[in-house]
Formats: sequence, structure tokens, C-alpha cells
Amino acid sequence: MIRIANVEMDDFLTVASGIVPDVPEYISRVCEEIRPTSLTLKTFTLNGVEPHRPPTVVKFHDSCYMNAIGLGNPGVGLLKEIGNPCQLIVSIGGSSVDEIAKAAEVAKPYGMIIEVNLSSPNRKGFGESMARYTKEVATAVKDVVKDKPVFIKLGPWDETLELAGKALEGGADGLTLINTLKGMKIDLNSFSPYLSYSTGGISGKCIHPLAVRIVHDVYKEYEPEIIGVGGVFSWEDALELASVGAKIIGVGTAILDEGFSVLKEIRNGVNEFLSEKGLRFSDVIGRGVKK
Ligand SMILES: Cc1cc2nc3c(=O)[nH]c(=O)nc-3n(C[C@H](O)[C@H](O)[C@H](O)COP(=O)(O)O)c2cc1C
Repeated sequence: MIRIANVEMDDFLTVASGIVPDVPEYISRVCEEIRPTSLTLKTFTLNGVEPHRPPTVVKFHDSCYMNAIGLGNPGVGLLKEIGNPCQLIVSIGGSSVDEIAKAAEVAKPYGMIIEVNLSSPNRKGFGESMARYTKEVATAVKDVVKDKPVFIKLGPWDETLELAGKALEGGADGLTLINTLKGMKIDLNSFSPYLSYSTGGISGKCIHPLAVRIVHDVYKEYEPEIIGVGGVFSWEDALELASVGAKIIGVGTAILDEGFSVLKEIRNGVNEFLSEKGLRFSDVIGRGVKK
């Protein structure tokens, strides 16, 4: 059991946002059959958004991907059909403070935590385009959802430390760190970008050290509640993120690459390590951060 921002999650693992498609029957099946302990849903906006046309995902190196699905989703109203089939973290986004607050109003009854995506690099006007309003978004969403924890999801940028401060000042209960980082791959047959959107968000093993550094710096500065995400493929990766301050660890690309069985391997590996050392998971959180 992990207590984070006054809610109790069954354990320290979650499936990162965007990995499980937003199809209610599929989500229920993942909850029942995989028992991921918790599942972060794909980002929902107030009204639906069409995904970019294919190709939207490319593997460019072992365990490293780029995607530009572009926040395609059928709209936050789908949550009524999804319900609460297991411990969920509900992700919302939008292209204005008001639109995000309205999505929060619909999302409020669902999930344990409301995560606000201010960091996806894959659709102009949404995601990272909204990061400059971090404080206003945090305040507006918190005003709507009240008792339920609100986490702001940021990317690995130069100004992440400052924006993390603004999210907390605005009333956020915690931070999700990190989203993908914008990159580009060129198709040498056409000498044009491989992905239809030109750029894509880099995820997977290549961004793990970036996630560790950002979580470390933010924890050192503010000691907030953190959901740590970015290139977690093994139990060692998960413990690294915990040791720099993450209480919940999100697994994304590793599931695309290796399947859901990676969750069990990570959980078992962490638990074996902790029992050998006579430690609890909570003993590790922030232990690698020198004050
Ligand atoms: C295919 C794909 C779709 C994603 N969609 C979302 C999304 O809808 N909302 C969001 O906040 N993050 C999204 N992400 C980012 C992940 O949640 C995560 O922050 C990022 O991929 C880094 O973790 P990883 O290296 O374990 O994948 C997506 C990532 C991938 C690979």
C-alpha cells in the first residue's frame, strides 16, 4: 500500500498514460486479467480530437520509440462508459484553462487521482503549449475537483523546476514527471520526416536518465508528491526513480516493447531487493537526494 496525496494506492506501480487504448471493454479486460494495480488512462479532452494520420509511432533504437498520436481521443464523456474498473488515474488535457477545467468537472467522479497533461509535444495548442499557464490550470482544476488529488504532468524541459513550483503554488497536490521529449526521424527514401506530424515524443530507455535527473531536481527543491515516469524497463529503473523522490512509478514504453508481463517482473524484482535489504518501499523514496 502506498499513500500518496492522501489516497491509498495498492502498490507503487501504474501503467503510464497513453499505453492502454481508450476502449471501455479493453480497459476492463486489462484491469481484470492483468491486474496492473493502477492504470493511468490516455489523456481525455472535453471534446474529442482526431488522431494524426499514420505513421504515428516509430521504434528508432532498441527500447526507444517516438510517437505522435496527437492526443486523439473520443472526449472525456467516455469516462461514463469506462467507470471505475480498477484503481485509475484519469488524465485530462485541453487547449485553454477553461476547457481543461470543464474536462475536470466531467472527470471528477472517476479515478483516484486527476492528472493534467501540460506536456505532450504532439499537438499544437494542447499539452506543452499549455505549460505556460501551469499555475492557472492547477488552480482552476483544483477548484473543480476539490478533495481529489490533482497532479500536473510536465516534460523534461529547462524550465521544469520553475513550472513545478508554479503547479504547487497553484494548488496541485503533486507532479507527474516526465512526459516525452520532442524529436524527429528522417525517412532516407523521401528525405522527409518519417512521422506524419513531422516530430514525435521520444520515450523508452533513452529518456530514463533524463527522468531521473528531473525527478531528482524537483524533489530536492520542493519534496512534492511525485509519480515518476520515463524509460522504466526493470526493477532497478523503478528503484532509481523512487530513490530520487517518486512514490508511484509509471511504466509506458516497456509495455509496448515487452508486453504487460514486464509489470510483474518489475514488481517482483523490487520486492525481492527490498526484502533482501530489509527495507520497505517507503524507505527508498528520496534516499538518493542529498539535501
Ligand atoms: C504511444 C504513447 C502514447 C502516449 N500518450 C500519452 C497521453 O495520452 N497522455 C500523456 O500524458 N502521456 C502520454 N504518453 C507519455 C507516457 O505516459 C510517458 O510519460 C512517456 O512515454 C515516458 O514514459 P516511458 O518511457 O515509460 O514510455 C504516451 C506515450 C506513448 C509511448
